[in-house]
Amino acid sequence: MQPSRILVIYAHPAPRRSRANKPLARALASLPGVAMHDLYWHYPDFDIDVRLEQEAVEAAELVIFQFPVQWYATPSLLKEWLDVVLEMGWAYGPGGTALRGKHMMVLATAGGREHAYSQDGIHGHTLDMFLLPLEQTAALCGMQWQPPHVLHDADDATPELIAAHIAQVRAALQPWLPTDADSVA
Ligand SMILES: Cc1cc2nc3c(=O)[nH]c(=O)nc-3n(C[C@H](O)[C@H](O)[C@H](O)COP(=O)(O)O)c2cc1C
Repeated sequence: MQPSRILVIYAHPAPRRSRANKPLARALASLPGVAMHDLYWHYPDFDIDVRLEQEAVEAAELVIFQFPVQWYATPSLLKEWLDVVLEMGWAYGPGGTALRGKHMMVLATAGGREHAYSQDGIHGHTLDMFLLPLEQTAALCGMQWQPPHVLHDADDATPELIAAHIAQVRAALQPWLPTDADSVA
């Protein structure tokens, strides 16, 4: 079996109530070469197994963070994951080369509409700006930041819009999905 090139770190505090992330997570999990890791399912007590997480990341080429935006940031368990898994000497700092050359991508959903995420909008800044801590984390760890995919107005998105978003995400993942040549090798 090919090791999973794509690791999805999925963080939804209320996954059963999800309309947007749930179908996206299901679609991603069904793709070949994708390992889906549901943080709130694994760690309801926030007691993260750091070594296990690091091993999963080491095996991946593309690390995806999938989450609903909450208070302009990641849900708290994903922040905890970043705090405890990205250790000095592993992710950054002296000898911290485990993530170097890997890619990081964010798949986020937001209740706010796209125009609300602008200088003149109610949120005052683009969503990309709220993702800056993740982008800079990738840079510090030597990872290549990929363009994020954000589903705006997620609470009111129609099934058709959600399906179109999933198709767009799938297309973006194409470079990391196994090819026929991989299965022959
Ligand atoms: C506690 C909480 C905080 C939220 N904060 C934001 C926010 O800062 N910006 C935003 O656009 N939406 C915010 N939302 C809306 C969620 O992003 C939205 O409900 C979610 O992306 C929908 O995806 P789902 O159907 O998978 O749950 C918040 C929702 C909750 C529950």
